[in-house]
Amino acid sequence: MFATLNGVRLFYTDRGKGKSPALLLIHGFPLDHRLWDAQLAALARTMRVIAPDLRGHGASAAPAGPFTMDQHADDLAALLDHLKVRQAVVAGLSMGGYVAFAFWRRHKERVQALALLDTRAEPDSVVAKANRDVAAARVQEVGAAAYSREMLPRLLAPASQADEQISGAALMMEAQSVAGFVGDLRSLRDRADSRPILPTITVPTLVLVGEADALTPPTDAQTMVAAIPDARLAVIPQAGHLSPLENPKAVNAALREFVRVVTA
Ligand code: MLT
Repeated sequence: MFATLNGVRLFYTDRGKGKSPALLLIHGFPLDHRLWDAQLAALARTMRVIAPDLRGHGASAAPAGPFTMDQHADDLAALLDHLKVRQAVVAGLSMGGYVAFAFWRRHKERVQALALLDTRAEPDSVVAKANRDVAAARVQEVGAAAYSREMLPRLLAPASQADEQISGAALMMEAQSVAGFVGDLRSLRDRADSRPILPTITVPTLVLVGEADALTPPTDAQTMVAAIPDARLAVIPQAGHLSPLENPKAVNAALREFVRVVTA
């Protein structure tokens, strides 16, 4: 479905309507709501599951960038308004986690609980910032498809590299627009340091990470668990950075149990 929010036409999937609680799933970069296909199918049996495409991603429009995490967070608040959802369990993977931090800063009254998947609180280092600019230039030079093929192996656990589900990830990445890629490489580069807000997160929080996540490794997850007052850790076996795709059964079980406990 589509809604024009904050002047941008955004796509979203909304399953299990009428059920409570609501789970808002925020995808990473350079992905879209299809990252969550397995979660949408399994979890919507017992809860409402909302999975948007952020501006610049998937079927959503890609207005002129650069985008910001704050802007993505405000788009999601507008989506919850549009759907008349007062509060949600907010779950974000990687860049989606950075958006979830911005959402907590700006709309914390809408957050019933938080799930931070394969993400980190640290901002980009000077070197990482420079690499974002290199990546933006490379995407503009070779296109989203070629760049995605270069990037994908770094996102997956060695065990997942041959998995047929992973071809879905490749297709999803290759379909993203150059404008969306470049817009979010800037938002990733310029994102805030979220370490100072970790102690202010007063809602129950699940920190979930693939055991073989090379981009945001389990040590990043442990740092967040130590700093967030009411946090628990789930390490997902046989998964890298794209744990919801690589081991959907384990991620579904962890999310289902977390939502059950925190909304009981
Ligand atoms: C993501 O998966 O959303 C990105 O890889 C995050 C990042 O590059 O920091």
